[in-house]
Amino acid sequence: MVPILASGVLKVIVRPMGTLAQFAELWASWFGMAGPAGGGSRVSSVMELCVNGSAHRVNAEAEKSLLLVLRDDLGLTGAKIGCGEGECGTCTVLVDNEVCRACMTPVGTVIGKRIRTVEGLEEHGELHPLQQAFLECGALQCGYCTAGMLMAAWALLQRNPMPTEPEIIAHMQGNVCRCGCYPRIVRAIQQASRHLDASAAFEARR
Ligand code: FES
Ligand code: FES
Repeated sequence: MVPILASGVLKVIVRPMGTLAQFAELWASWFGMAGPAGGGSRVSSVMELCVNGSAHRVNAEAEKSLLLVLRDDLGLTGAKIGCGEGECGTCTVLVDNEVCRACMTPVGTVIGKRIRTVEGLEEHGELHPLQQAFLECGALQCGYCTAGMLMAAWALLQRNPMPTEPEIIAHMQGNVCRCGCYPRIVRAIQQASRHLDASAAFEARR
């Protein structure tokens, strides 16, 4: 995992804002004006998105990235802006239970799909076992990658409730941790999978 992740870290450090077009989009989003790349006129429309089980109406351009809609229009700032070009995984959310790089996903393509963000992991005020395991294992330092890591791990455990260490490493390849917490992240996912397995066994016995 390390060489691939290391190259990802380099890209993130060298190009933290992604391409010029993505920079222009972020510029327009933050300052409400066309960025240095121009901008052009785009048409907004009202669309309904299903996020964390609730319907939300937003007025946005279909080409606007899902990441910026989540953060700017819906106030869901868990998913973070990293490379802006699909390389680092800090923006990871789930769309119909599949891992999705929100920075690269036009919001118009996810209408009618189920979007889940890190804000939708806890239930009834209780941390999800994955969140709890990340805390207990100290699987974060600055925390910038954590939301993306959690969502990628959640997708893995949905498909494979008891992944082996190599399976975890293979699945998490696309998520970069600049702080290098990889061993503890793997340990946290293993701990969560044991907890979820035990909970399922408990439920089955009832
Ligand atoms: S911000 Fe890096 S993959 Fe989306
Ligand atoms: S990037 Fe700092 S904890 Fe992963």
